[in-house]
Amino acid sequence: MPFRSDFLWGGATAANQYEGGVFEGGAGLSTADVMTNGSHTVRRQVTWKKEDGTCGSTPLCFGSPERHLPEGAVPCLIDDEKYYYPSHIASDFYHHWKEDIRLCAEEGFNCLRFSVKWSRLFPDGEEETANEEGVRFYREIFKECRKYGIEPVVTLLHYENPLAFAQKYNGWADRRLVNAYVRYAETCFREFRGLVKYYLTFNEINCIEHAPFVTAALIHGDEQNCASAVFHQFLASSLTVKKAHESYPELKIGMMLAYGPVYAYTADPADQLLVQQAMNQTLFYSDVQMLGRYPDYKLKEYERAGITIPAKDGDFELLRDYPCDFLSFSCYGSHVMTCHEENTEQGEGNGGAQAHMVRNPYLKTNAWGWATDPQCLRITLNTLYDRYHCELFCVENGIGWNDVLEENTVHDDYRIDYMRANIASMKDAVELDGIPLMGYLYWGCVDMVSNGEGEMAKRYGQIYVDADNYGKGSFQRLLKDSYFWYRKCIQSNGEDLD
Ligand code: BG6
Repeated sequence: MPFRSDFLWGGATAANQYEGGVFEGGAGLSTADVMTNGSHTVRRQVTWKKEDGTCGSTPLCFGSPERHLPEGAVPCLIDDEKYYYPSHIASDFYHHWKEDIRLCAEEGFNCLRFSVKWSRLFPDGEEETANEEGVRFYREIFKECRKYGIEPVVTLLHYENPLAFAQKYNGWADRRLVNAYVRYAETCFREFRGLVKYYLTFNEINCIEHAPFVTAALIHGDEQNCASAVFHQFLASSLTVKKAHESYPELKIGMMLAYGPVYAYTADPADQLLVQQAMNQTLFYSDVQMLGRYPDYKLKEYERAGITIPAKDGDFELLRDYPCDFLSFSCYGSHVMTCHEENTEQGEGNGGAQAHMVRNPYLKTNAWGWATDPQCLRITLNTLYDRYHCELFCVENGIGWNDVLEENTVHDDYRIDYMRANIASMKDAVELDGIPLMGYLYWGCVDMVSNGEGEMAKRYGQIYVDADNYGKGSFQRLLKDSYFWYRKCIQSNGEDLD
């Protein structure tokens, strides 16, 4: 059997896209709660106000080159019907958690990934003690998972920070967030002890380059602020690992990287160099979090750009001594890059459209331009294992589609085809290449609001949620064809992919 007997099979979610209940249970607002909805062609906006009462919105989101709010603008909610904030209701997991966990258990899951909304535990981010109602909410969820033999995996920070950090400090550019985060992480360790064993410190930590407001609450996300912010996140991650190793030795703390192999479009060596440099832009983050040091190529890049790392005595030793215990990653497909962009089409994918990225003529794409690559998981697993020689965990893989509901179900053959190809490729990596893989979590197992576009129409789930882009609908859960396919796959521990 290629997959180990305790292989973790299941799905992945994130609070800001799934949970809703933003004004319930004493929660505070997060940065995601001031982001409006969008679409493939309309960018999500962050709404803001100035002291003089002026208000407006700026696209500080994935796919946008914008990096700053206007001078003096503070991100906040604006009560105007032209703005819709999808995180406020999302998939209403807040009121459907028992049902969703049961459905996932019946699908055969032995693992489910959630994120904790930091501002549900600490509404302002920095209170001395946690909001007991928020703690109780998550504790009940994890208990419910355990009841069904489901291992919860918790992302401590998934694309939302307490809004107060963006309002007061320009987010993670400020070192005060490090201690606030460690207190929050330790609260989770203590309160969920015996229920949660696996934590991920920062979702897709490398995406700060694409969306600094989303990952790090930066309202001024220039290169220096991004470098400072991610340094502070690295420190927070290492301190969290230290705390876990010293006081909660049963825990395993993972890093989380957004990864997709990058291919060169031509055999021109200039294209190979472009690809290598693009891969380094991604792997820099895992080099720090898994190898414990800043790689020379990044230090040289910072030196050329005049960027400084705001390190204090002992910081680099901390990064060296407390790398993460395992590497988890998201992988949706691959990308193609070239210096020869004439006669090519712009390529897209996780992280948005980027410079020199072109469409792969060999692969099909979905309506959002994301390519389905049947080999990407095998290539990804080999690349990451060759470099880090550590345990790997695929915590996101999936396909977004404009599903059509027919007689209370969705015939999503395209999703089954995607999963079949991706799981087969992962299986080859384990069986033929010997990669130590902990598990596979399908992204967005229950339909939820997309991160890039903030729309419900881009659905990933095997479980349909009856809600539209504006939070209207019955929120009834319905099972798609892929639900039954995945169940069969899991029951056979990945052997039956027919
Ligand atoms: C990953 C994120 O980048 O991709 C998720 O961790 C996100 O939050 C997923 O939802 C799919 O992206 P999107 O934009 O289609 O929702």
